[in-house]
Amino acid sequence: MMNTLELMQEWQQRVEHKLDQVLPSAETSPLQLHAAMRYSVLGGGKRIRPMLVYATGMSLGIEPEQLDGPAAAIELMHAFSLVHDDLPAMDNDDLRRGKPTTHIKYNEATAILAADALQPLAFQVLATDTKMLCPPETRLQLISLLAEACGSTGMTGGQSIDLGAEGQQLNEAELEHMYRLKTGRLLHASALSAAYCAQADDQAIQALGLFADSLGLAFQIRDDVLDIEGETQTIGKQQGADQQLSKATWPALLGLEAAKTKTTRLLSDALVQIEGFGPNAEPLRQIAHFIVFREL
Ligand code: IPE
Ligand code: IPE
Ligand code: MG
Ligand code: MG
Ligand code: MG
Repeated sequence: MMNTLELMQEWQQRVEHKLDQVLPSAETSPLQLHAAMRYSVLGGGKRIRPMLVYATGMSLGIEPEQLDGPAAAIELMHAFSLVHDDLPAMDNDDLRRGKPTTHIKYNEATAILAADALQPLAFQVLATDTKMLCPPETRLQLISLLAEACGSTGMTGGQSIDLGAEGQQLNEAELEHMYRLKTGRLLHASALSAAYCAQADDQAIQALGLFADSLGLAFQIRDDVLDIEGETQTIGKQQGADQQLSKATWPALLGLEAAKTKTTRLLSDALVQIEGFGPNAEPLRQIAHFIVFREL
């Protein structure tokens, strides 16, 4: 059996290949739009959400071929959110994944349109991917799950709260709510997409949902910690960007040490949920560790 690192590399390659396949070629008209879409998605990023899809699937005994579509769809949605997140009207960032952000590389209008087009492409993949062997009802479940995770009560809602909170002091409960929406919901959808494809029972779905919710919160707190103590070179984003915008973040409110303690507590909460999942869930557990202790 491959170790987790090898598995993670294999999953990374799988999703990279799938993304390359589903994105229109750079020779397809409109050329600049398609080039910008490919630039925004390919050749970078940790691919943590696709890994959660594959690792959850493995824990439930489903083949990775069936999960390439859901993994790619979620990564397309994530890439769309990053392109918009970096725009001058939002976080106004010029560096992402160690490269100029899409609006810097192309221009603002092209970045907006590229992100606009990534979003429906995600749903197109879920609706049409032929390697997903699930019944049509399951496809609908996945489409609805992703739509909810990214809509106004999910990621987009969280982004709206994030922008409104610049320069404000949110309390802990408000911060947690914002993080659960802007980041947690897409991680939740990653785990549950695999669970739905595997026709998991209600108990497993409940456990995986809680697992992913805790991890989602931990993921965003770790992101905020890295914004403070990470290296621009390593994180591939400008270090210190949150402070410059007076972002309401966990470490800003409660301090770095409290933020780190919170992430380790959330990791334990997450792992408890999948205690009964057996040895095939080992990669899933290791990805959970990675989320909390990562340096990038
Ligand atoms: C960054 O996500 C945005 C957050 C939700 C914190 P990632 O840290 O997963 O970014 P990439 O995909 O690896 O670049
Ligand atoms: C972004 O949070 C969350 C998204 C939904 C894109 P951040 O604004 O902290 O993400 P980074 O640090 O720019 O990647
Ligand atoms: Mg942001
Ligand atoms: Mg940002
Ligand atoms: Mg950040």
